[in-house]
Amino acid sequence: MTSLPKFPKIKNLMVKGLHGYKDIFLEFKDVTVIVGKNGMGKTTLLKLIHSLLINKKDEYLVSICDFAELSFTDNESISFGGITDKLRSELLKFTINERLEEIKKTRGKKGISKAITDMILNDLEVNNKINDILKMHRDAIFFKEKTEKYIRNELKIRYISTVNISFNADNNIDVGNSVSTNLLDLATEKEMRELLKSENQLYKNAFLEQINVMLIDTNKKFFTSDNEYWILDGNTSKKITLSQLSSGERQLIYILVTAANIGNSPAVFLMDEPEISLHLSWQEKILDALRKINNNMQIIIVTHSPAMIMNGYMDSYVDIKNIITENNHG
Ligand SMILES: Nc1ncnc2c1ncn2[C@@H]1O[C@H](COP(=O)(O)OP(=O)(O)O)[C@@H](O)[C@H]1O
Ligand SMILES: [Mg+2]
Repeated sequence: MTSLPKFPKIKNLMVKGLHGYKDIFLEFKDVTVIVGKNGMGKTTLLKLIHSLLINKKDEYLVSICDFAELSFTDNESISFGGITDKLRSELLKFTINERLEEIKKTRGKKGISKAITDMILNDLEVNNKINDILKMHRDAIFFKEKTEKYIRNELKIRYISTVNISFNADNNIDVGNSVSTNLLDLATEKEMRELLKSENQLYKNAFLEQINVMLIDTNKKFFTSDNEYWILDGNTSKKITLSQLSSGERQLIYILVTAANIGNSPAVFLMDEPEISLHLSWQEKILDALRKINNNMQIIIVTHSPAMIMNGYMDSYVDIKNIITENNHG
């Protein structure tokens, strides 16, 4: 398995007091596949990671756990429900340095030794301020400006819930002029337009190649020109539209085109049960297809299908039972 280009990736996740009585510690690789039965907390885990990454200011994190921290390979972190000793000491250091500059300006070097005594007292004040903020803003998410900038300006975050996709695939909506479609096809259309518009032929070609590797199984072929795409049904030799495909085929197209559109950006690709609607052979191939389409994404999958990892991704396997510990003092 080739590894991702050098950019800060998610290194680990620590959660304390999940539902009040569980702790989680999980280390991530370029591809991480967390396998567990229904009700084991897979969706919860993925939503938690997503909420931390997008700095979602709502009650979700508050309702779900006491403390959560996502660390990156550059040793920066995002935390909720408290701050780590490391970040606390950095905040303290920062304010001390700031004050030192002030003192130099106003009192000159002689003032410094007296000032150090002041600063020790002030550390306590700063500490208390941090604690007050923590108490008053239970939903606050802490990270340094550098990390926030990286996440906001560079890192692309995609959350694909196939549970929602399946629902969206079957729910028709009226888009005007008596034309009815569904949310999945709408979303796919949007992604396809973006891909066709893109200047980068590399991702277009990779998408086309991989989707066609998959569609061989159902005797279909995907074509693109500069501004349109079409699918040929090998059984009837006729062009067909998205809506005439099976839900598995439509889901597959959506997932792969989304990956292609990430392009050159570093990205985190979160997927909840991608196996829904995908037959076994596609489940085995999808990770490889994703990695071949776009090698800039760190992939995190929660699933109950071990088939996902059978095709060369055994190293990515994490049993959800091994990352959750229950405690009785919560
Ligand atoms: N506040 C809570 N306290 C305790 N357990 C909870 C709470 N909220 C959800 N759960 C449990 O978490 C599980 C749901 O987790 P979920 O992430 O949807 O599982 P999965 O995706 O693995 O099927 C359920 O078993 C549910 O009972
Ligand atoms: Mg789930």
